[in-house]
Amino acid sequence: MALLAGFIGVDRFADITIPELTGARRDAEALWALFSDSIPDIQAKLITDKDASLHGIRQLLQSTLGAATSDDTVILSFSGHGTSNHQIVAHDTSRTDPADTTIPMEELAHYFRETQAKAVLFILDCCFSGGAPAKVLGDIPVSRSISMSVSTLAGEGRILLAASRESEEAYEVPGEGHGLLTKALIDTFIETTSPTIDLVEMSAQVVEKARSVAIKMRIAQTPVLFGHVTGGLVLPPIKPGPHFYTKFPQKGGLRVDADIQELAGFGLPLTILNQWAKQFPTLNDLQLQAINDYRILDGSSLLAIAPTGSGKTFVGELAAIQAICEGRKAVFLLPYRALTNEKYEQFSQVYGDGLGMRVIRCCGDYVDQTDLFVRGKYDLALLTYEMFLNLVVSNTGVLNQLGLVVLDEAQFITDPTRGISVELLLTYLLSAKQRGFQIQLITLSAVVGDVNHFDEWLDCDKLISQERPVPLVEGALDRSGIFQFVDTDGNEQVTQLLSPSEIQVRRKKASSQDVIVPLVQKLVQQGENVIVFRNQKGPAQGCANYLAKELGLSPATEAISVLPQYDLPTTSQALRECLHGGTAFHNRNLTREEKEVVEQAFRSLDGQVRVLSATTTVAAGINTPASTVILAEHEFVGQDGRQFTVAEYKNMAGRAGRPGHTSNSRGQAILLADNSYERQSLFRQYVQGQLEPIRSSLDSQSLKTWLVRLLAQMERVQRAEIVAVLSNTYGGYLANRSDPSWRDRMKQHLEELIELMMEQDLIEEEDVYIQLTLLGRAVGESALSFDSAMRLIRLVRSIQTDDLSVITLVALLQQLPESDGGYTPMMKKGRSESIRPQQASERYGTEVVRLLQHLAQGELDYFARCKRASLLWDWVHGVAIEEIERLYTPNPYQGKIGYGDIQKFADATRLYLRSAHQLAALIHIGNNPSDEEVDRMQQQLEVGLPTEALGLLSVPLRLYRGEYLALLNNGVKSSQDVWTCSELQLSSILGKKRASELIALRPPAAA
Ligand SMILES: Nc1ncnc2c1ncn2[C@@H]1O[C@H](COP(=O)(O)OP(=O)(O)OP(=O)(O)O)[C@@H](O)[C@H]1O
Ligand SMILES: [Mg+2]
Repeated sequence: MALLAGFIGVDRFADITIPELTGARRDAEALWALFSDSIPDIQAKLITDKDASLHGIRQLLQSTLGAATSDDTVILSFSGHGTSNHQIVAHDTSRTDPADTTIPMEELAHYFRETQAKAVLFILDCCFSGGAPAKVLGDIPVSRSISMSVSTLAGEGRILLAASRESEEAYEVPGEGHGLLTKALIDTFIETTSPTIDLVEMSAQVVEKARSVAIKMRIAQTPVLFGHVTGGLVLPPIKPGPHFYTKFPQKGGLRVDADIQELAGFGLPLTILNQWAKQFPTLNDLQLQAINDYRILDGSSLLAIAPTGSGKTFVGELAAIQAICEGRKAVFLLPYRALTNEKYEQFSQVYGDGLGMRVIRCCGDYVDQTDLFVRGKYDLALLTYEMFLNLVVSNTGVLNQLGLVVLDEAQFITDPTRGISVELLLTYLLSAKQRGFQIQLITLSAVVGDVNHFDEWLDCDKLISQERPVPLVEGALDRSGIFQFVDTDGNEQVTQLLSPSEIQVRRKKASSQDVIVPLVQKLVQQGENVIVFRNQKGPAQGCANYLAKELGLSPATEAISVLPQYDLPTTSQALRECLHGGTAFHNRNLTREEKEVVEQAFRSLDGQVRVLSATTTVAAGINTPASTVILAEHEFVGQDGRQFTVAEYKNMAGRAGRPGHTSNSRGQAILLADNSYERQSLFRQYVQGQLEPIRSSLDSQSLKTWLVRLLAQMERVQRAEIVAVLSNTYGGYLANRSDPSWRDRMKQHLEELIELMMEQDLIEEEDVYIQLTLLGRAVGESALSFDSAMRLIRLVRSIQTDDLSVITLVALLQQLPESDGGYTPMMKKGRSESIRPQQASERYGTEVVRLLQHLAQGELDYFARCKRASLLWDWVHGVAIEEIERLYTPNPYQGKIGYGDIQKFADATRLYLRSAHQLAALIHIGNNPSDEEVDRMQQQLEVGLPTEALGLLSVPLRLYRGEYLALLNNGVKSSQDVWTCSELQLSSILGKKRASELIALRPPAAA
């Protein structure tokens, strides 16, 4: 007598329209491994994905059911999609031809009838009910043949364990990487202690277990058992052994040493390990602890807090790659577009090109792969916080696919403007976890003060490390050259870093320049590379400029040779001059391409640029490691106008001495002080300062925004339970802990808000439930604050024309508090800005300009709105940057508009345009812009091109804005047009170098 077994699992399909699964292959592998480990003479076959084609599955049925004799027992499992008329979906099933490319139940029934086997057990972890996102293929055309019920497979000696009733859907347990039924089966096997098991009897326990998980996930799924075997189906206990641990090594509680190659024990493929070992051969302590003690490679969630440069991001990377190798999808969340793009380039190179993983990004750019993200067609996705929050809330299917979320730079939860997005996305993930979605959450944060129960709220362990791989010397330097610092052993010291004679007043009055020049000179002579942080764009540029003049460094010819040459902002010339003197600056007035050139030149070890002067906001999150960092100021200017927090200071200081860069064995951070008194006070405040605790940005002023955004995360909620929704946030959790009466007070407050929102048609009530109206949902899903959204609604309602164009929306957005709050450079004296309304009405017409007056804080505020609106009009109509700068700069000293301002206004508008469009579509009766028009405008705002030129974006080489415009001016409007140009023609428009780059990319058919 023999035991013949076959295990089938299909996650991936040749037909790209069939949604992928994440646990079916693992189901099959786990069952195959468990049975192979426990029953020595079993003949077990495993076929997954590509091998589980129609042909492969039929062969397997033939070699098990077909080959069995009357003494044999057969065990079969299938995990994957089913169709609503009871067909099994194979790897090569085609949605357009289901009749011929699926395996119908009739065919299975035939095998079951004909087999000689004494007993058959068939574990069917798919569903046939027809609802997405279950394991069923909906909307597949129903075939004409009479379909039969699965239960007909059962009978004497024929047992069928099916994932759900025929009317129900079968789900995967998200994050577990298994189907609900198979997971329950595996757990029951592992937990059972009796010397033998009766599969039939045990199935009752499996059903029970699966039911309880289903209830937690708030889904209706009841596994069912059909058929019987006289005398039962008795087997030895099914326990994990070598096969299982090879497939799922992490289940064995493996510990590793620093050698990267040891990670092979976790099942990570050698190709990946070799790739990693090329970057660095050993894991550091933080990474080892995360693996050995906090089990991140076994699916455990973790909050890791460690200094800059300590290798946190790689902790997230380890967990992500492990998840992907297990068939789970991984998501990396980052604070900035620039950082997301940088990581995307890096990850695509390592994991995409090298290892065949599908790496995608969504950060609000036209290159985004949002569509692939929503359909789950990725392995590793990189998103900005806001993008993720928006996509996950408005596409519920996204949640089903998530296996791992890495939240990088989680200290952003305390950020006054971005904190709300971080907290809301975490709240959403945590409540999904409570419902049974098992999402691994790796939260990575730079150093912070008190953890303030953040880990408890996240419901995970915390790993806190103070250790920097490269030690940091931190101190303050005054104008007499005295440096008060803490050395790498933690001892406070004072030294004469510069001699007083070196510090001379260089201009009319004393300024930081007097110290910066000799200091940087000294550091560069010592072989260091230096970042000087400045708190404004102008001084950042000015500082690089005077250092270039004074230091006599050799010119960065390589960097100069790759700078863009078309349509340049005025700052470009200044950058060239700095590079000629071996320095550079980095601020928002540079174009993206220029910034990249600067970063690259500063990063490269042969370093043509050894001195970089950068604004504080720009430097955060960009990989520009230095050996010494100088902080010329300790406060922000403009709207913010506040001192740096200790955490912000530490983050900037920590940019010094990142590993893998200079040969220096330590980094150094120097705060500049005017006198000895200020030196001591800055030293106490920052170098020795206590970091601020982690906190929530939930406060009573923003409660309306929080409420509407939280409600947008759910379908409906019992009115009486509304306070629980708020309690789920970190802020709510903290308030509840510290103040028992918070709940009651909040309940009352929320009641008032609900009444108010009902009056505004944002919330509706049915029985005991409340839910957002369509309009309410549009407000809650938008990135706008509640007050802004309401103001926008009023504005759009007051529009009198029937046609609302997308460019009008762009103008109206300039009226919102978010745009007003962002700083617009204005000439405050005199009347030179009073021409703005005229300029705006020439572009938008008088009605729109009238609307821009609404609720203005004063005349200047109104002019600023008109200025932004007109400037954006010009930007999206392809006006040259220099011309825009000229037109909107009344005076070189005040109200100066630079390229950075254009970018800032365009980005802010882009962030809100889609929300504005959704709101408008609900309230403006008349013609509204189409989705395509909004998409086009988003692109236009991003790249600053007129619609006619957008066709050029599909040229497979990213060109500069000026180059696109030059092509357009020569009548070349699409990639097609480009390919029909001769090299000579292209050369006359774009220069020789670009022309030959383009010609090299010309598809053969177009040549
Ligand atoms: N085990 C290691 N050995 C050597 N270098 C490492 C190791 N792990 C990471 N690194 C390198 O150290 C540098 C910093 O790592 P990483 O960016 O992960 O740090 P981080 O803690 O995330 O820093 P930040 O707070 O700036 O985001 C990177 O260049 C990375 O390649
Ligand atoms: Mg990092």
